[in-house]
Order: sequence, then C-alpha cells, then structure tokens
Amino acid sequence: MGRTALVTGGSRGIGAAISKALKAEGYNVAASYAGNDEAAAKFTEETGIKTYKWDVGDYEASEAGIAQVEADLGPIEVVVANAGITWDGFFHKMTPEQWNKVIATNLTGVFNTVRPVWPGMRERKFGRVIVISSVNGQKGQAGQVNYAATKAGDIGIVRSLAQEGARAGITANAVCPGYIGTEMVRAIDEDVLNKHIIPQIPAGRLGEPEEIARCVTFLASDDAEFINGSTISANGAQFFA
Ligand code: CAA
Repeated sequence: MGRTALVTGGSRGIGAAISKALKAEGYNVAASYAGNDEAAAKFTEETGIKTYKWDVGDYEASEAGIAQVEADLGPIEVVVANAGITWDGFFHKMTPEQWNKVIATNLTGVFNTVRPVWPGMRERKFGRVIVISSVNGQKGQAGQVNYAATKAGDIGIVRSLAQEGARAGITANAVCPGYIGTEMVRAIDEDVLNKHIIPQIPAGRLGEPEEIARCVTFLASDDAEFINGSTISANGAQFFA
C-alpha cells in the first residue's frame, strides 16, 4: 500500500503532471481544485485520480477537505502545495483586490494546506512538504509584485519548516519552475512572451510540466531524506539562485 499524497491545484497544469507522476510511483493521490468542475471530472476520468473541491485560501474549507481526503485515502504523508494563480499588472495599476487575492491563494494557501497535515506528520515521524514556488519569486518580475511576493514567501516557509521538522523526520523543500508551457504562461500576451520572455531563457523554450513533476517525485522519495530546506530550480538556465 503506497503513501498518500495530496496535490493542491492537482487537476490542471503543473499540478496535473505532479499528480500523475506520483500515481505512477505508487502513491495514493488526491488532487484538490478550486473551481473548474469540468476539468476535474475529465482528469479523474482519464487518470483514476480522485479530485476534491475546496478553496485553498479558506482555512476551514482546507481543514474539512483534508479531513475528507484522509478519511478516504489515509493519513497524508506527502503534501504538494501547488495551487496558485496570477493576476498580473504593473504596480502603478495594481489594486488592493489584485494584491489580496493572490496573497490569499498563493501564500496563505500554503499555510492552509500544510498546517492541517503537520501535526500528523510530527506524530508519525515522517513527512514530505513540497511547495511549488517560481523563478519569479527568486528574481522578481515586472508586472508581478503580488505573485513574486508570494513565491519568495514560499522559500521562507520551507526554510523555516525544515528547521522545525527535521528532527521529526519531515522535510520541506521548494521547487522553482521557470516558464512552463501551461495555460498560465500561455495566457501572457504572445508579443510579450516572444519579445521579452523566451529570449531570456537560454534553453530557448518553455519547460514541460513533467520536468517539474520529476523534481517533486524525487523530493518525495526516501532517497531525498537529507535534502531539507532546499530549492530546486528548473528554469532552462534563465536564473541562478
Ligand atoms: N520585460 C520588459 N518589458 C516588458 C515586460 C517584461 N517582462 N512586460 C511588458 N513589457 C513592456 C511591453 O512590451 C510594453 O512595451 P511597449 O509599449 O514598448 O510594447 C510595455 O511594457 C507595456 O506592456 P503591456 O502593453 O503588456 O502593458 P499592460 O498594462 O497591458 O500589461 C502586464 C502589463 C500584465 C504586466 C503584461 O505586460 C504581462 O503580462 N507581462 C508578463 C508578466 C509575466 O512575466 N508574468 C508571468 C506569468 S507566468 C507565471 O507567473 C508562471 C511562473 O511562475 C513563471
């Protein structure tokens, strides 16, 4: 019987690739999603991976959703805080709503996802916390003050959790994807993408979601036990942190 893994935002984009890769490694995977019922139903139909609906920005909803996952699949031993949104705009045009929404989902969402599973990991003396950050949390990005703040925050979260969890057999690490060919990146104006972004990627291409999923399956594995508080960057040589 494999370990149970939860992937938030696990039915689309990078999260879907992570859910599938963990399933292929033998984990019992639960994928949470926030809104797109149709995509979630299609994902479950195609992969057999159970999907659960809650808003990661809401603590009570996260607690209830996680309790349901654990009732169905057993204690969560691997948690991948992947759910995230963008709401880009230059700072002089950014509204408090734009700031608050992205902070709630991307940053508070990590607290809301990890906090409910943390006591069980401590009791069982095993846990893997993997947070999906971003190259833009490492280098900053014009038009993404809100998003970059959350993704830089992820790195502070895992470095702190690593120190708290190490003696309890828990590791906490971040993965920093570069620009990956998902809907999120393809939503960028094509002109901006081709003129300003792709030329800054020495690999000359967007990454594939599976290239991020492989970082996650490694960090989740027993082999990664001594890697704690680290950041794995997968960005085609765009930035070195
Ligand atoms: N670098 C340099 N110049 C840039 C730029 C960049 N990254 N982004 C935009 N510009 C330039 C534009 O080319 C344009 O210049 P010209 O007038 O000379 O053509 C000028 O700034 C104004 O740009 P827009 O017309 O696009 O302004 P806007 O107000 O309509 O849109 C924006 C602003 C929403 C920030 C838009 O430019 C944008 O989407 N930029 C990309 C931001 C980005 O990289 N987001 C990443 C999303 S993917 C992701 O977040 C995943 C991940 O983790 C990597």
